[in-house]
This record gives sequence, structure tokens and C-alpha cells, in this order.
Amino acid sequence: MEHKTVTKLWGGRFRQDENELMEQFNNNLSNTTWLCGPDIQGSLAHVAMQVKCGLLTVQEGEQIAQGLQGILADVQSGALQMTNAYEDVHTFVEVHLIERIGDVGKKLHTARSRNDQVNTDMKLYVKQQTAYVIELVEKMQRTLQEKAAQNPCIMPGYTHLQRAQVVTFKYYLMAYHGMLQRDKKRLQSALDNMDLSPLGCGALAGTTHQIDRAFTAEQLGFSGVYANFIDGVSDRDYQLEAMSAFSILMMHLSRLSEEIILWSSQEFGFISLDDNYTTGSSIMPQKKNSDGAELIRGKTGRVYGDLMGLLTVMKGLPLAYNKDMQEDKEAFHDSLQTVILSLCMMERMIATLTVKKENMEKAVKKGFLNATEVADYLVGKGIPFRDAHGIVGQIVIYCEDHQKAIEELQLSELQQFCPVFDDGIYPYIDYHNILKKGIKKEML
Ligand code: ARG
Repeated sequence: MEHKTVTKLWGGRFRQDENELMEQFNNNLSNTTWLCGPDIQGSLAHVAMQVKCGLLTVQEGEQIAQGLQGILADVQSGALQMTNAYEDVHTFVEVHLIERIGDVGKKLHTARSRNDQVNTDMKLYVKQQTAYVIELVEKMQRTLQEKAAQNPCIMPGYTHLQRAQVVTFKYYLMAYHGMLQRDKKRLQSALDNMDLSPLGCGALAGTTHQIDRAFTAEQLGFSGVYANFIDGVSDRDYQLEAMSAFSILMMHLSRLSEEIILWSSQEFGFISLDDNYTTGSSIMPQKKNSDGAELIRGKTGRVYGDLMGLLTVMKGLPLAYNKDMQEDKEAFHDSLQTVILSLCMMERMIATLTVKKENMEKAVKKGFLNATEVADYLVGKGIPFRDAHGIVGQIVIYCEDHQKAIEELQLSELQQFCPVFDDGIYPYIDYHNILKKGIKKEML
């Protein structure tokens, strides 16, 4: 029987070639070149298992493994280009393998389907990259911690974007450190959840060959295998979990971006971004814009979009594999690249920004940020808090009318509102002293 030259992995049952439009619509290699390394890694484990289980001789196994390694080396050096002339990364690798080592290459796909193959590849990639994102989050946390330690100065804290109470810049930054700590946990939990190998699940129903799934799982660094073949090829939860964690992480970076944008405006003047991480205007010579932060804020929408896109792709799919699932790759990859770039950008912006401590201190002194402490002082003199709150409210109106801060009032003026005030009020409501009292000490 005459064999056709292999350019596709599935030509046999077709009388005619694929239409060009169909081919263009179906092929996705040029957008998934990053999957070549994981694909070859998965194939090498599969070959080792084939040898172990007697599906290949040792010599055949060696020939195939060398062929695969050669392809990877040539792709990495640029000698071999990946283009949409091939349907996908699996086709590209297998066609080249057969071209290089001949008929023995045709044995690679024994006891495997592209369905378990592609999910294995993606899992390897998602696992490795999620671990990298965790490293970047840790780096960002270290930078926040350093910046915080260098800047214990006081600043206004806000609610409703109205000045509320005095805090420290150090403590403010550490709030983001706490958010990132949870992001790390979410990423780690996604990693723990994705630790099962799909390889060996076949198209959806395993294989009649006596293969060893546990062996390939171990070779690839997974802690186990799927209990169910159909689940193993249909599962894209792990990408969605990682992308959910990315989305929440981006939400945090976006909130920090918003603060950076506000703080570096003339209106706030709390920080100044390094020239290296800002841009200018083509018409207004004075402008220094915080584009880095604005882009992170904008790209957050994009990461949410990728997550929504993949959730929507998956929501109506019957088991097991459907071609819709090919769409997972670009969604995940776009989301990943955006998170990586945003984390790097944010880390640099934070590391290089300058804190304008005098402006922060000036802002603290306007807006009655010690009003709550005046009420606390009255509580200490035996006045119930609700009554104290009312008294201080009246004092604030008086201050507004006279354009004064509470600490600028004479004792006699304060006593008009409540006779229990004495000289002790002034140190009590001094902004630096406030932070030394009660559990506020934690903010220092
Ligand atoms: N290129 C495909 C993907 O990315 C690989 C799996 C193809 N499987 C199939 N049954 N057509 O999902």
C-alpha cells in the first residue's frame, strides 16, 4: 500500500484537500509558538514511557528523542521557523520529526491523541508561568516593603476620597503588600489544583495499550493523573483559575495605579514619578504623564476580558474535546503577558518614585483629620462617644467659619463647646502623637 507524504496528521479519510479558508481559519501555529517547548517536553516523556512499556525499542526511543531535541534546538536558534503553514504545534513537530528521522517518527503518536497532548502542553506552560508570576509578585512585595521602610512619613488617609484620618505612607503601601500576599495564595492554590497530568487520557477514552500514565506524570513533574479520562481532556479549569487570580491581582495593581495617578497630580502632589517611567505631551511642553500607571489600569480591563472570553467559550461545551477549546491559548497567553508586564512596570514605578513628605504633612493638617481623636479625648473625660461626636461636629462648623484647624483654637474657645477640655487636648490631637496611641502604633 502506498503511503501519502504526511503534511497533516489526519489526511487519510479525505478525498479532497482542505479549502484555503478552512485552513486559515483552523491553523493557529503562529499564535502559539511558545507551546513548542512544552510540546516537546511532553513528547519526550511520552517516548520514554513508550520504551518502558514496550511500545518502542530502546533504539527507536533514542532516535525519536534525538529528533525532538534537534527540532527544539533549531526552533530556539531560529533555524526553524514556525508558521501557519502547519495546523498547530503538534503537527509542526510531528511532520518535522518524520522528515528528519523517517518512518520511526511515525510511531511517536502511538497511544496518544492531540487532545491529551494539547492539554498536557498547556498545563506544563501554565504551571511554569504561574510559578513565574508568583516570583514577580514576591519581587513587587519586597519593593513595596523597602519603599515603605524608607518612608514612615505621615499622610492623609481617605474614605470617599475625602480626607479622613492620619496614617503613614509606609502603612498605606503595606496595605498593597497584604493584597499581594492573598494574590500569591490564590496563585499557589491554582497551582496545587492543576497538578494532575492529562497525558494518557487519549482522545477521551484512554487507549487499549497498556501504557503507564503515572510514569509520564512523574516525568513531567505532576503529582498524579486524572481519575477520569473524559475529565482529563475536557478540563480547562486550571487556566480559568490562574486567569481569575490574574484578574484579582490586576484589580489590585489597578487600584494602586489610580493612587499613583492621583498622588502625582498637581492637586495632590504627594509623589513624583521618575522620568524614566513617565511620558510627555506632543503639544504641552510642561506635561509629565503617568502613562505606566494608566496603562496598567487600562490593561486590567483586558485581563478581565480574556477571563470572560474563555469562560464564555467553555460554558456551553459538551464533553469531551471541541475545537472551540483551541481558543484557550490566545486568551491565556494574552492575560499572562499583560500580568507579567504590568507587574514589572509597577515594580519599577514604585522603586523609583520620590515621596514629597512636606506636601503629605501639609495635607494632613487641613481637613480635620484629628476630629475623631478630639472625640476620643472627650470619651477619656467621661463623655459618651455619641455625645462627644456631636460636640466635635459643632467644633468643626466653628472652625470652618473661622478658617482654623481644631488645634489652632484657644482653650477658652474649646471650652465653649464642652467644659471638660484642658491643656492636655493639644498634645492629644497632635498628628504625630496620635499615631503613638492605642493600636495606631501599628502604623508606625
Ligand atoms: N490545535 C488544537 C488545540 O489547540 C489541538 C487539539 C486538536 N484536537 C482535535 N481533536 N482536533 O486545541
